[in-house]
Amino acid sequence: MYVCNCNGVRQREVESAIAAGAANPRQVLAHHGHQPCCGQCLPEIAACIGASRACRQEEASLVAAD
Ligand code: FES
Repeated sequence: MYVCNCNGVRQREVESAIAAGAANPRQVLAHHGHQPCCGQCLPEIAACIGASRACRQEEASLVAAD
C-alpha cells in the first residue's frame, strides 16, 4: 500500500526509514531520495513516526520492569 502517492513510497519503506533514524516526514522521504510534493502524506507519515516511538517506549518500559 502506498503512503505517498506522489513518490510511490510504500508503508514498509516508511517503516525502514524510521528504523534507520528518520525523525520527521521529510527525513522519511529523503531517506528514499524523495521530497514532499503535495504534502498530503505528511500527517500519515508523522503518525507512523509517533506510533513507532510509542512502541519503542513501551518496549523500553517492559524491559526496565524485568
Ligand atoms: S502524497 Fe506524499 S507528497 Fe504527495
